[in-house]
Amino acid sequence: MQQMTMLQWGILRPHHVLALVLCVSATEDFDWTKNERTSFYYGTFPTGFSWGVGSSAYQTEGAWNVDGKGISIWDAFSHKKGKIFLNDTADSSCEGYHKFKDDIALMKDMKLNHYRFSISWPRILPTGLKSEKINEKGIKYYSDLINMLLDNKITPIVTLYHWDLPQVLHEKYGGWHNISMVNYFNDFANLCFERFGNRVKYWITFNNPWSIAVEGYETGEHAPGLKLKGTGAYKAAHHIIKAHAKVWHTYDMQWRSKQKGLVGISLTADWGEPVDISNQRDIEAAERYIQFYLGWFATPLFHGDYPQVMKDYIGRKSGQQGLGASRLPVFSPQEKSYIKGTCDFLGLGHFTTRYVTLKNYPSGAGDNYFSDRDLAELVDPQWPDPGSEWLYSVPWGFRRLLNFVKTQYGNPMIYVTENGVSEKMLCTDLCDDWRMKYFKDYINEMLKAIKDGVNVKGYTAWSLLDSFEWDEGFSERFGLYYVDFRSKNKPRYPKASVHYYKRIISSNGFPNQREVESWKRKAVETCSSSNQLLAADPLIGHMEMVTEIVVPTVCTLCILISAVFFMFLLRRRL
Ligand code: NOJ
Repeated sequence: MQQMTMLQWGILRPHHVLALVLCVSATEDFDWTKNERTSFYYGTFPTGFSWGVGSSAYQTEGAWNVDGKGISIWDAFSHKKGKIFLNDTADSSCEGYHKFKDDIALMKDMKLNHYRFSISWPRILPTGLKSEKINEKGIKYYSDLINMLLDNKITPIVTLYHWDLPQVLHEKYGGWHNISMVNYFNDFANLCFERFGNRVKYWITFNNPWSIAVEGYETGEHAPGLKLKGTGAYKAAHHIIKAHAKVWHTYDMQWRSKQKGLVGISLTADWGEPVDISNQRDIEAAERYIQFYLGWFATPLFHGDYPQVMKDYIGRKSGQQGLGASRLPVFSPQEKSYIKGTCDFLGLGHFTTRYVTLKNYPSGAGDNYFSDRDLAELVDPQWPDPGSEWLYSVPWGFRRLLNFVKTQYGNPMIYVTENGVSEKMLCTDLCDDWRMKYFKDYINEMLKAIKDGVNVKGYTAWSLLDSFEWDEGFSERFGLYYVDFRSKNKPRYPKASVHYYKRIISSNGFPNQREVESWKRKAVETCSSSNQLLAADPLIGHMEMVTEIVVPTVCTLCILISAVFFMFLLRRRL
């Protein structure tokens, strides 16, 4: 080996020296980015890097009660008054169920490599149980969607659970609070592997289990709306982790050798930065923030148990409350080894960052998930926050989070499954320059993370379309495409960020400053003309009304009047 190196040096040519010098200076260029939070790094992604967009069933499909679909907890929750902003529901939403062909055409035009969508459990198993009824119409819908994606060379990345549990399972068993969900979910997943697994090679068991557990069973802001403070989230999460592991084993034993796919999970986490990086208590508080967020799910899957800091804090506080056992459930040794290593890839959703500092919450005064962490979250008032009130644009946090995943979990294969920004706007503006900037800077931080050695294989912009944003209804728009929800046909209009994202995809990154700077200019030129189109939309809506209501009514009246007139003439003649 040594000898070979000497030989290679022996035949060094001037162009080799030049390449070496360029390499060294590129490294210096890059090293500089490590100390400078706002630096921009020009470069491209590894060949084969996968670019995509995402959506979820309940948020976009509509068709909530057609073709044999059962009711989900989100259908039930959104139909209750006072749960969703303006009492919106996703009954029709983007009509994705009927418009999937149009949506694939949009994806094709963007030259996407993958599309991440979810399967609605009650659409294919209306009562949740495989043993009771399989809805073949629902199966056909997803089958057609998958086929058409593949025909267009777009890889499907399929989420099995993006929050829409069959309502029957909630009513009968209490949903994720009940251990029986593990087997029911496994049956559902197994059916999906059986029917779609010959074509789907990337499976995500759960989307953002943090949100399912905390918002569904602890704060009650999301379906099923339970407020079981201090216990609800931990118990639901415990069953979700077991369900994930079971599905991974099912795939591994029954399908992997035939279908050769991968099974992962999609975890969402903010980055937590210590307020004062020289203060040990802030450093530990920031570490707790991430362990209670990402580590809660990732540590069992990669290392077999909950993070030590969660066990310590929740255990201690439960003791102080006078409870005989920790509110955090415990995995048996067999469960630990069954759960450990059940992640072929990690899906990562990321949107924002918080500063974190220590804050002690005395036990006994309403213990809950948030107070268990003993910390306070802060934001920098200078961080841009164009949309959702929780979403500040802090690109550098993304690189840190990705590096955290690399070091904590043994550099797993990562697919970024969600990243994007919303807008809260009364008037429509398709020239979303803040979103272009968000994507540009966050994607750039991901590029730097890859240069740091993080194993990121793909990126999914959230989301393809404006859609139903859970308890916020339609008031927060994350889409690359604007959807006019007032119009029955739910037309889609490209925002400027569509054009911008297309440039990133076709260049596989950021080739050089001159080119990248021209992208925004060109994107804005195109969106101004789209804005005009949209301005004409009330007219389109008006025309729809004319064809659907006014024309039939006028015709009927005409026929009636003619009939009366005719009768009158007849009577006069007689
Ligand atoms: C994560 C959820 O998975 C997704 O459904 C939602 O739209 C985004 N966060 C934005 O809030």
